[in-house]
Amino acid sequence: MDFVALLSRWTHILSMTFLVGGPLYAYLVLATPLGGMAAAERRKWEDAAAARIRSIGLIFITLAIASGLYNLLNKVNLPKGYHMWFGIKMLFVLHIIAVTVLLGRAGVESAKRARWSAGLAVSGAIVLLLSAYLRAMQL
Ligand code: HEM
Repeated sequence: MDFVALLSRWTHILSMTFLVGGPLYAYLVLATPLGGMAAAERRKWEDAAAARIRSIGLIFITLAIASGLYNLLNKVNLPKGYHMWFGIKMLFVLHIIAVTVLLGRAGVESAKRARWSAGLAVSGAIVLLLSAYLRAMQL
């Protein structure tokens, strides 16, 4: 068994649970109770969450890129069309990275934050589908 490949796959999936699972949870679960809060209280809560996203988000972005590059560089005999779908996945990944960095900023309007999280949840779901497809292409 290739232990490094296993570790790299685990790291990639772990990063993905934070980068995609976080916004999905924010959009589907947290948005409702947050919407019922007074504006000032909500902003305080969101700014505290942003500080956590800033530190933890950067770690998972770095891990996702490093493990993803390792996965990619170890691929051999890729089927026709693989690189095109991989490139499309990267466009959505760039969106996820950019918006995760933006969500780490303090003082962002609550409505904007909610819109960004919804966009991330959609991009995340698409990236998961594309990743599953990339895998299925090789089976
Ligand atoms: C938000 C960031 C990302 C998410 C949510 C994500 C998600 C995923 C998921 C769910 C898989 C399938 C895991 C498996 O079945 O083992 C995967 C595989 C993969 N990812 Fe990512 N990924 C992200 C970023 C990246 C980056 C930045 C790269 C490259 C630089 C990358 C390269 C790959 C490669 C090469 C595979 C293997 C695909 C295959 O089976 O051929 N990913 N990714």
